[in-house]
Amino acid sequence: MGKQLHSTKWCGKKRYHFAVIDSTNKKAKELAETGCEHGTLVTAESQEAGIGRRGRSWSSEEGTGIYMSLVLRPEIKTECASSITLVAAISVARAIINLFKESSQEAVFPQIKWPNDIVLNKKKVCGILTELSLDGTKIDYIVIGIGINVSNQSFPEELQSIASSILLETQEELDKELLIEEVWKQFEYYYALFLQTQDLQGFKEEYVSLLANQNNKVKVLDPNGEYEGVARGITNTGELLVETEQVICEVSSGEVSVRGMYGYV
Ligand code: BTN
Repeated sequence: MGKQLHSTKWCGKKRYHFAVIDSTNKKAKELAETGCEHGTLVTAESQEAGIGRRGRSWSSEEGTGIYMSLVLRPEIKTECASSITLVAAISVARAIINLFKESSQEAVFPQIKWPNDIVLNKKKVCGILTELSLDGTKIDYIVIGIGINVSNQSFPEELQSIASSILLETQEELDKELLIEEVWKQFEYYYALFLQTQDLQGFKEEYVSLLANQNNKVKVLDPNGEYEGVARGITNTGELLVETEQVICEVSSGEVSVRGMYGYV
C-alpha cells in the first residue's frame, strides 16, 4: 500500500504504489474485480507493459513519467460513461496550469487534443486510456489510466514531431507527487459537475476553451470513409462537432480518430 493522497476527498484514499508493474490499468482492473472501493488509485514508478489506446503500447521508463489508474464505480447510465474520459482530460490540463501558476514561472498553456490527449506546443505529453466493465447492462467499474510525460529528456526520432514531455516544453521539472495530487483534486471537482447532469454541460465551455483543435481543419479517420472539416466545439455528451461544406457532423471518439491537417493537432 502506498501513501494515500492528502489533498483529495475520495480519490486515492486507498493507494497501491509499485516500483515496477506490468500495467497500472491491468492492476486496477484486477483490484476492481476483487471488489476494491470507488476511488482506489494504483501508481507505479515504471511499467513493463504499459497499454495505450488502439492496441498501442505506452513507453513507461522509470523516473520520467507518471503512470496511474483510478477505479470508479459510478452510478450513472451506461451511455454516459464515455464522457468520463473528457472529465479526466480537463482535470489533467487544469492541474498542469495550476502547478505552473504556483511555481511563479511564466504561464504554461496545455491544451486538449480531442477527446483526451494533453498537448503542449501541439505535442502530446499525456495520454488517457479509459476502460469500462459491465455487469449485465449496468456499469460495474471504470478504470481511468493516465500516463504523463513529465521529465523525459528525449524521444525516439519517429515520435519527436508528435510527442514531448513537460520538461522539454517548459524547461521545468514538476514534482510528480504534487502533480498526481493536483490531477485527482481537479478530477473530483469536474467529476462532481459531471454527476449533476451526467454529461459535460457544467464545463463544456471551459473544455472548448482548452481545445487545441478548435476552429482548425481536421481529418476524420472514419472507418466508413475519411473526410475533412473544421472542428467547432463538442456536444454535451462529448462528440466533436466537425463542420464540413454540407453539414455539421457529430464525431464519437470510440469510432474514429481525428488528425490535424498540418500535423498531430
Ligand atoms: C494513449 O494511448 O494515449 C493512452 C495511454 C495511457 C497510458 C496509461 S499509463 C498508466 C495506465 N496504465 C496503462 O497501462 N496505460 C495507462
